[in-house]
Amino acid sequence: MAGRYDDLAGKTVFISGGATGIGSDLVIAFHGQGARVVFCDIDAAEGEALAARLAAAPGEAPVFVKADVTDDAALVAAIARAEAWGGLDILVNNAANDLRKPIADSDAEQWRRLVDVNLRHQYVAGREAARLMTPRKAGVIINFGSVAPEVTVENLSIYNMCKAGVRGLTRSFATDLGKHGIRVVSILPGAVLTPKQRTLWFPDQPAIDAMVAQQMLPIELNGGHIAAMALFLASDAASGCTGQNYIVDAGLI
Ligand SMILES: NC(=O)c1ccc[n+]([C@@H]2O[C@H](COP(=O)([O-])OP(=O)(O)OC[C@H]3O[C@@H](n4cnc5c(N)ncnc54)[C@H](O)[C@@H]3O)[C@@H](O)[C@H]2O)c1
Repeated sequence: MAGRYDDLAGKTVFISGGATGIGSDLVIAFHGQGARVVFCDIDAAEGEALAARLAAAPGEAPVFVKADVTDDAALVAAIARAEAWGGLDILVNNAANDLRKPIADSDAEQWRRLVDVNLRHQYVAGREAARLMTPRKAGVIINFGSVAPEVTVENLSIYNMCKAGVRGLTRSFATDLGKHGIRVVSILPGAVLTPKQRTLWFPDQPAIDAMVAQQMLPIELNGGHIAAMALFLASDAASGCTGQNYIVDAGLI
């Protein structure tokens, strides 16, 4: 489904939360373009399995680093692995936790933990990427937002606040870094049927059909649809794109 972008071959990409879900499709897609992929996750079993699977495929083997994105030092050290492998060209801030909780059952400590995993690390990683990319006058930062703040799914107040915040993060980073040749964009997925989403929220075909019926396109969105946008935005084909949200939701909103 994804296009071919010759300029991505040999580029170094860092992807957070790359072990499962959309993140694993991002890892597979960038590896398929001939990019050097470093990815981190807290799920070491899935991360190592994906790295091993791709090591057996043509191209340079991706590097998996077990790292929690809420640990600043661990995140920066994981990004350094990409920098050491030819210089960080592309950062993809993908890791997240869309835990649903009624407002009355949430508390300030949970608020802090969810902000850390859904917003704060995008700032920490983006700042590190900017530090590394600025002297080279080139680079792309892709932040993951969501269409969720625009729809009426219940019990997502903290997640939605963070994802709305990603827009401000993207625009402010893009504003400051454009003069250094660095592009900063957001991808806003719609309802992507990852294994986790199927298990938690779309366990059977009627549930999937009810969601698909809300979209303009009657298709089941998967991680490949999102990765195709990420490849385009990371490539020179998108050299005029910065500071904006790119929605891939099959027409949900
Ligand atoms: N799936 C969807 O329908 C959907 C919709 C809108 C936006 N998004 C966004 O797209 C991105 C990917 O979504 P997804 O559905 O694949 O997410 P997910 O929750 O299935 O997976 C995220 C990955 O991040 C990892 N992760 C979680 N906490 C981490 C931590 N503290 N440190 C390191 N890694 C951690 C997980 O292990 C997992 O591999 C997220 O930013 C999400 O908010 C997804």
